[in-house]
This record gives sequence, C-alpha cells and structure tokens, in this order.
Amino acid sequence: MGDLPGVTSKLEYLKELGVDAVWLSPFYASPQADAGYDVSDYRDVDPRFGSLADFDEMLTQAHALKLRIIVDLVPNHTSDEHEWFVQARAAKPGSETRNRYIFREGKGEQGELPPNNWQSIFGGNAWTRLVEADGTPGQWYLHLFDTKQPDLNWENPEVRSEMEAVLRFWLDRGVDGFRVDVAHGMIKAEGLPDWDGAAAMVEGQQAEDSADSADSADSEKAPEGNMNPPSPFFDQEGVHEIYRAWNQVLKEYDGDRMLVAEAWVEPAERLVRYIRPDEMQQAFNFEFLLAGWDAERMTAAITNSLAAVESVGAPSTWVMSNHDTVRHTTRYGLSTPTGFPKGISAADEQPDEALGLLRARAAAAIMLALPGSAYLYQGDELGLPEHTTLAAELRQDPAFARTKGEEIGRDGCRVPLPWYDQEPGYGFSHGSVEPSQPWLPQPESFASYAADRQDGVPGSTLEFYREALALRSEYELGQGVLEWLEASGLHQPDKDILSFRNGELTVLANFGDQPLALSTEFLEDRGVRLRSQPKALTENGELAPNSAIWLS
Ligand code: NOJ
Repeated sequence: MGDLPGVTSKLEYLKELGVDAVWLSPFYASPQADAGYDVSDYRDVDPRFGSLADFDEMLTQAHALKLRIIVDLVPNHTSDEHEWFVQARAAKPGSETRNRYIFREGKGEQGELPPNNWQSIFGGNAWTRLVEADGTPGQWYLHLFDTKQPDLNWENPEVRSEMEAVLRFWLDRGVDGFRVDVAHGMIKAEGLPDWDGAAAMVEGQQAEDSADSADSADSEKAPEGNMNPPSPFFDQEGVHEIYRAWNQVLKEYDGDRMLVAEAWVEPAERLVRYIRPDEMQQAFNFEFLLAGWDAERMTAAITNSLAAVESVGAPSTWVMSNHDTVRHTTRYGLSTPTGFPKGISAADEQPDEALGLLRARAAAAIMLALPGSAYLYQGDELGLPEHTTLAAELRQDPAFARTKGEEIGRDGCRVPLPWYDQEPGYGFSHGSVEPSQPWLPQPESFASYAADRQDGVPGSTLEFYREALALRSEYELGQGVLEWLEASGLHQPDKDILSFRNGELTVLANFGDQPLALSTEFLEDRGVRLRSQPKALTENGELAPNSAIWLS
C-alpha cells in the first residue's frame, strides 16, 4: 500500500518538484474499512505503514529539506474497532462509554426501526442496530459513513478533550498542521430531525445528477450543492466552537502550525466562516475543483473565492483533484468536461486521455498562477489519469459495496503512481520491501506516465510542473493579487478566453478548440515564461486550443 519509509525515500523528489508541504492521508492504526479514515488508534502508526519511529524519521528528514508535514485528523468518527467503541458496544444503554458515540433507541414497537431517516453518505442506512451483550437486539448507532465508522458524540466534553490531546500528541512530535476530515460534520442538529435531502460527500454530485436526468437547460448550470434543504448533520453552527478551541491549542506551539478544513460547504461565504481569524487557517476550495474545464465557471469560482476569503483575511486555496474525486485529467477528457462522475468503470464513457491531459496542464498553468495556496494530488505532476477499467472484484471503496455497485467509487484515482516504467508494479514497491503487486493494480498505460520516463525530458508533464512551481515561487504568486484583464479585452470567458495578471506575470488561457490569434505588439512586449505544452504558442503567434501561457 505504500509506507512511511517509502514517503521518506521520495522526499527529495518532492523537494525537486518544488512543493513546500506534504499532506499525508491517514496512516494511523486502522482496519482500513475506508482507506484509513476509520482510525482505531489515533496515537499509533498502522504496522502496514511502519512505526512511530518511521514517522519521526520521515518528519526529521522532511524538515531538513524545509518541507512541512500536514497529517490527516479524522474527528467525526472512529473505527468500530477503536477501544472506545469496543467498550461502548459491551456497555449498557445510557452508560458513559456509550455517550461517546451517538446511540439511540429505535422506533417501532420493538425498536426495530432506525431512530431517524438519515442515509449514509456511502449508501444505505446511517444507523446500525447493535446486538447487546445478552444477545438481544439493542440500540442503534449513527454512522454518516460506513457501518465501521461510528460517529462520535461531540456534545460530550470527553470527546473534545480527547481530540485536543490527539492534536497535542502530533504537535509535540513536530507536525506542521492538520487536514481536518469532514470538518463540517461533527455537530448534529438537536433532536436529530428527519431530513428529506440526500447527502453526498462531494457536494455538487447531487445537483449534477438530477440536472442530467432533468434533461433541461439547467443541466448546463454550475452544480449548486446538495444541502437543500439544509442538512441537520453538516455545517451546523456548533462546529465553529470546536475550531476556536483548536486555534488556541495550535497557538501553544511555536512556528506556523495550521489547520485546513475539508468541508464541502457552499456557498463560499459559508465556507470562509471556517477560516475566520480565530478558527482554521485554510479550507479546501471545492468550487474551483467542481468548475471543470470551462472558462466561465472557472472565472466565477476564482472571483467568488477570492472575494469570500478577503472578507475574513485568509488565503484562498486551489485544488483540482484528490483521493475522493475522479482525476481531473480524466474528467476534462470526457464529452462533458464539467461533469463530475462518482467513479468510472469500463461500462462508462472512456475519456480522451490526450485531450484531458492537454486541458489538465493548461488548468494547472492557471491554478499555479493564482494567489493563495495550491494543492496537488499525488500523480497530478505526472499527468496521471484515472484507472477507468478497474475490475469490480478489486474495488475497495465502501461506497461501491454499499450501493451495490451503483456508485463506482474512488478506487480509480487511488491507484499507486508509477515511478519506473520497467519495474514490477512500476516500482511502487521498489526499495525496502520485496517488489510486489501494489494494493490496486495499475493500468498498462501507466508505463508511459512513469516518473523516470518524464524526468529531465523537456516538455514532459513532470518538467512542466517543476518549471511552473519554480516560477510560482520566484514571482511570489501565492502572495500576489489577481487582476482580470477585462479592460484590454483579453479576458473574455464567454469566448473561452481566460486572462489575468498576478504581479509581473500575465496568464492567458484558451479553453476553446480554435487557435487564438494574439497581436504581435502584445507578444513583442512580453517574454514567454511558461507554456502549458510545448506547442502552446504557434509560430504565427497564436495560442493553441486547450493551452495556456505565462508572460512577463
Ligand atoms: C473525507 C475523506 O476525504 C474521505 O476519503 C473519507 O471517506 C470520508 N471523509 C470519511 O472519513
């Protein structure tokens, strides 16, 4: 599956790529019912991934390279194999140990019906009924995700102090920050009222799906999210108190420690409430991720996000892919490049990989020129596509099983990345352990994306990313200010042209399928600093379709 010594061995690669920090998804002790987002011990490393000593070694080496390490914190739920839940299961209804989770009596004469109508985000019921110690059917417990991920009761002060102790445990070890999982989910509305909406982890999926089936003009609209009516388990006011407390915990430590929220909250004005000065430092900006390959939607996402973060004085973030979404290289190669499928199987439309990659590189040229923090998903820098033909029996995402395959799920974006094109498993297991098949098989096409094939090759995706990140740092774009080039007529999103200035740099992107003529004076006055692809600028001074350039 990859392990911490493996991460350590690739720190130099990451340094050379030009990133400042690394966010690691959960490596804690876990039965792996949801790829580690089901933690059974928050203070230990799962033996699959190494040991605490391996973690310390990785952290020391990262810091020596001036790379910061952000770890994933999963506070909404534990694993059902966590000591607390084991105790709660064995205890009596109403006991203190049960009060760490959300247990309720069922409805119906014999308590045979779930306490309310909430559905799990991974499909099926959000409640599971326990068999009590004496063998009789007992209380129900809430799990917004898998049955093996019981939700903690954040109304219980013991839960709060335990999670603060977990924060301190990792801060004491020297971590630079935390990515907070389901940051909008810990507090549930009083009385756990029924809710007629349907929840999706990835906001926007719902609206996109219903727009497709509605077959109306609305299907062109940007997704509006799934919180209509507002959900009783996401984005409740009470979550902010938790982050105000955590803000104080971080303040006890030296350096520049941070919290970044994974909160699928819309609109941007609601999201930025998580990054008010006394709460977290950053929040993932999923509006940008959901914009897809579309100049108007991307412009709107950037404008909205920058305006919203300005109101709280925090930096914006930008991200196009992560371990929960179909890789953007693949999404941009579909016939609807603004679509947002919940996984892709061999039975679905297959992407035009080359077109998707062209667009992904142009989108990266846009994203990496924006002020704020840019997050890359592992493999973005290789132009890696989704594995779209993974066999059903190999799928591990609980959402696939719980929806009986209706939702294909997230395995396709989690396939290990290829390091060496000639090695077994493309070198993923190369090094300290015996070469073996990686935990999810890679498609054959991954050979052509292998890092060793791209390293030092002019025009490769990897070299493009290295160049873009070096320039991002040189021009201090992260600290810059964006200005759309509307007045000069360069920024015309309705005509597939996106253009802005950030400090000394001008960015120009052509979302269309026709070359865009640029005036000779315009080009003569400026030097080309970056091309999203080697042929982004033609000899006649045209900006190629699906391409972007940086000029200074
Ligand atoms: C969000 C994580 O990114 C996802 O991978 C996980 O399944 C859910 N939260 C539940 O923890």
